[in-house]
Amino acid sequence: MSEVTTTPSRAVWPRWVRLSHRWISVAFVLSVIATSIALAQAEPIMWMSYVPLFPLLLLFLTGTYLFALPYFARWHSRGRAAD
Ligand code: HEM
Repeated sequence: MSEVTTTPSRAVWPRWVRLSHRWISVAFVLSVIATSIALAQAEPIMWMSYVPLFPLLLLFLTGTYLFALPYFARWHSRGRAAD
């Protein structure tokens, strides 16, 4: 993993977000399974179709942050080099 971050407070965030992303992905998979079961009933529980959207939104936000991390790090180190 990247060691480009400098201060401890900066180093904690990416690790925390990566861990969140990992465990939210587990919650997302479970919610998809639960939704499939709910919709396969003789009387489908329609509102369950919306449940996976919440973890998916969190995955999108944390995932976008993880995607941008290497670029942040590059800009950050470039900025530091100019100090
Ligand atoms: C919704 C949009 C999503 C975006 C933008 C996104 C983006 C990312 C990015 C950028 C990474 C880091 C890859 C790297 O190591 O460089 C990552 C890791 C990962 N993603 Fe996503 N992701 C999304 C959704 C999902 C979903 C739906 C799942 C699974 C259900 C998932 C599971 C994971 C897991 C398990 C990792 C590895 C985490 C770790 O290193 O511990 N992601 N994702």
